[in-house]
Amino acid sequence: MDSILHHETVLEHNRRYIPGGISSVNRAIDPAITFTKGEGAYLWDAAGKRYIDFHAGFAPYFLGHNFAPINEAAAAALKGGDSLFGAGPSKAEGQLAELICRNVPAVQKVTFLNTGSEATSLAIRIGRAVTQRSHIIVMQGGYNGNHDELACNVFNSLAEIGPRVSPGEYPLRPLGAGTTIGQTHFVHAINYNDLESVRYICRRFPIAALITEPLLQNIGVVKPQPGYLEGLRDLADEFGFLLVFDEVKTGFRHALGGYSQVCGVKPDLVVYGKAVANGFPLALVGGKAEYMDSIIDPDPARRPFVAGTYNGHPVAVAAATETVRYLAANKDKIYPKMEAMGAAMEAGIAGIFARRGVTACVARQGSAFSFYMMAKPPRDLHDIIEGHDFARDVALRRALIQRGVFFVPIATKQCSLSAAHSDADVEFTLEQFESAVKAIW
Ligand SMILES: Cc1ncc(COP(=O)(O)O)c(C=O)c1O
Repeated sequence: MDSILHHETVLEHNRRYIPGGISSVNRAIDPAITFTKGEGAYLWDAAGKRYIDFHAGFAPYFLGHNFAPINEAAAAALKGGDSLFGAGPSKAEGQLAELICRNVPAVQKVTFLNTGSEATSLAIRIGRAVTQRSHIIVMQGGYNGNHDELACNVFNSLAEIGPRVSPGEYPLRPLGAGTTIGQTHFVHAINYNDLESVRYICRRFPIAALITEPLLQNIGVVKPQPGYLEGLRDLADEFGFLLVFDEVKTGFRHALGGYSQVCGVKPDLVVYGKAVANGFPLALVGGKAEYMDSIIDPDPARRPFVAGTYNGHPVAVAAATETVRYLAANKDKIYPKMEAMGAAMEAGIAGIFARRGVTACVARQGSAFSFYMMAKPPRDLHDIIEGHDFARDVALRRALIQRGVFFVPIATKQCSLSAAHSDADVEFTLEQFESAVKAIW
């Protein structure tokens, strides 16, 4: 069957029942490929065409699609009669909690939810309950979830936010209609890598929490400048707000202990999702026991509300437990392998750009990388919107897709290697990259 025809038929059918035909807006891509199978480092579309996958479902598949030990653990939970009892403690969630606390240095206590958005929402709530303050700081170019309080200021045009603001804050720009973020005045968006703006906001407002991805991975890969994360820690201590690292994308991908373990800066709370259960829906909030224990504070005025029918669902808990076990047992092999493959990809892509005379750079942390049509990696969103060539970025991704390499066709989106990729996959990808660059420039 002609694959384009097939994709259009599926989309057409779905559109009759689902607005836009897809249940998450950022999955709507052009070309609208209908994938039918994922295994290891590969995806197959409805016509049977195989792609090397660097999207990894927006990054959860750190061990690859349909990784057998994890699928088996999830199936075993069901076959063994485990169910969502909906009452009382579960042995499995206690075991997973213990594993997380033993393997993630920033976590003394932890609670489980289903999605990253639920988890970031709870982290903010804990920050407010603990400090008895309302204001929060977010990063321009950071994404921390789909809920009213945080769904703002990820990608803006210069027309929307104007020239660089430092020190100071940017106007709030909700990601969509129907939220109250424009009216609440409790959220302050500042540039990443800008400590002076944190201080500026803290002098004017009582800040409950600052939430940030430790490196921004929703606008590619934007890394902290030396001293930045340490500076955030110092400011949190000086002004008494909770430092929340949103490790939904970085947790387990850069180390079992997340980027906080890599950089050695301890946040007050961390949020994990995505790779924590290698594609099964589980997220967590963890951190210092004194803050996590606010969840059971005897004083209702200081006790954040936590509830969820599916929190700690046995299938997702089994998947996460096997993910932690597997990574803990194999970390000395997996993380160096990912670093080596990431370095080969970075050097290969940078070499291709240089050979073809294209002004572009690669930004990378371990297995996560991105490229920008800029002379050097950006330090924040402002650099990207001023300097990046968005149209060429998407054109390059589409040319790669035609050549059997799936870089999601959304400008700047992070590309993710998984432990299932091989050196041969990297080599093939680089050959296709060179051919795609030749076609575009
Ligand atoms: C850093 C970060 N935080 C939070 C979220 C929200 O997670 P979810 O989509 O599971 O709600 C995402 C999702 O992409 C993310 O990248």
